[in-house]
Amino acid sequence: MTDATPPPGCPAHSGAVALSGLEYQQTPSELYRSLRREHGAIAPVLLDGDIPAWLVLGYPEVTYVTSHDELFARDSRRWNQWEHIPADWPLMPFVGYQPSVLFTEGAEHQRRAGVITEALEEVDQFELARDCERIADQLIDAFAGSGRAELMAAFAHALPMRAAVQFCGMPAGSTDTEQLVDDLRISLDAAEGDDPVAAYGRVGARIQQLVKEKRESPGPDVTSRMLAHPAGLTDEEVVQDLISVIAAAQQPTANWICNTLRLLLTDERFALNVSGGRLSVGQALNEVLWLDTPTQNFIGRWAVRDTQLGGRQIRAGDCLVLGLAAANTDPQIWPESQVGAENSAHLSFSNGEHRCPYPAPLLADVIARTAVETLLERLPDLVLAVEPQELTWRPSIWMRGLTSLPVQFTPVSH
Ligand code: HEM
Repeated sequence: MTDATPPPGCPAHSGAVALSGLEYQQTPSELYRSLRREHGAIAPVLLDGDIPAWLVLGYPEVTYVTSHDELFARDSRRWNQWEHIPADWPLMPFVGYQPSVLFTEGAEHQRRAGVITEALEEVDQFELARDCERIADQLIDAFAGSGRAELMAAFAHALPMRAAVQFCGMPAGSTDTEQLVDDLRISLDAAEGDDPVAAYGRVGARIQQLVKEKRESPGPDVTSRMLAHPAGLTDEEVVQDLISVIAAAQQPTANWICNTLRLLLTDERFALNVSGGRLSVGQALNEVLWLDTPTQNFIGRWAVRDTQLGGRQIRAGDCLVLGLAAANTDPQIWPESQVGAENSAHLSFSNGEHRCPYPAPLLADVIARTAVETLLERLPDLVLAVEPQELTWRPSIWMRGLTSLPVQFTPVSH
């Protein structure tokens, strides 16, 4: 049963750490280490507006939470804090309930996630790589002649969205597709002067139209496969889940590309400018997932009933934030601090029933790898246009990505 006043031991009580603002303090691995030292594997935190939640920092604890749906579930409507949350709360896009795969549970989740999994499974990885190379080439053509570029906007963010929209069946390069790409950017990552709500409305309308078109005339794409699936999703369900797929693909893959480029351009182990550098693009992509994972923290799970976790009393309806970056660098799994192994046991794609559906990490890998390799092939003398220490991380405790990635190279004409 939930209670309006915080019970003893509730994260609303003194000692809780305000999460917003923390990102300025130090590098995330140090931040998570100090939080863990002070609070243990489950830290009481305050989200924007001092809304209490638990930050799950330990690798075993994140694994436990994500593999026990009966205790920690996805439907945010069970949150015991809704009465304190204003309609324009900044984290509303992540926690506001929507009838999409993201918030469904149990058999209904299996049905919805099963359709996405099977539709993504049939994306041909070679074809996707070819499409990404073509998209990368077009983006590079736009700045190659100038000898300079800001790669976050001009490349890392622009590429995965186009790739996702394309495997969903929208023709590449049409004005219509470019408008959708632009509206997706605004609704997911609004800049000064943008209207994200209006843009999100246009995204919904365009995806609705796409679903209608593919109902009438199916093609070899994710949308048509979702519509044809024997689970019999309604058009409205397909619209909701397509938006989830495209949105889920965008930010993390963009930051994966950018964080990998940053590593390649700043770490001499990768010796980008020397042919035969010791470590490969694949190793850089993997190291980023361990050390600078795009989804640092994910909100989240909601406790189904009162329970214990890591020595904490969790109340029914409490919110748990999955500390994926903290879990990846948990000293319990890395006693010698040798984080970044050449294996993929990290939790960057989460774990359990709601984890990033299994073909998606493979597709994201094809997109990110092709993006990075194409860029380095086309502009082999690419270097940072600023000192490495001048690069700044976006002030977000949720996504880990740079504010900008300015580079220079010998101008090339195509
Ligand atoms: C092609 C690119 C991608 C696609 C299509 C995709 C798709 C999805 C979808 C549909 C979900 C919702 C799963 C559910 O609730 O059942 C999801 C969740 C998630 N994805 Fe991905 N994703 C992509 C790339 C990535 C990348 C690059 C990362 C991070 C490195 C990532 C990390 C996550 C995480 C952390 C979750 C949350 C899982 C949870 O609730 O525990 N995804 N993704």
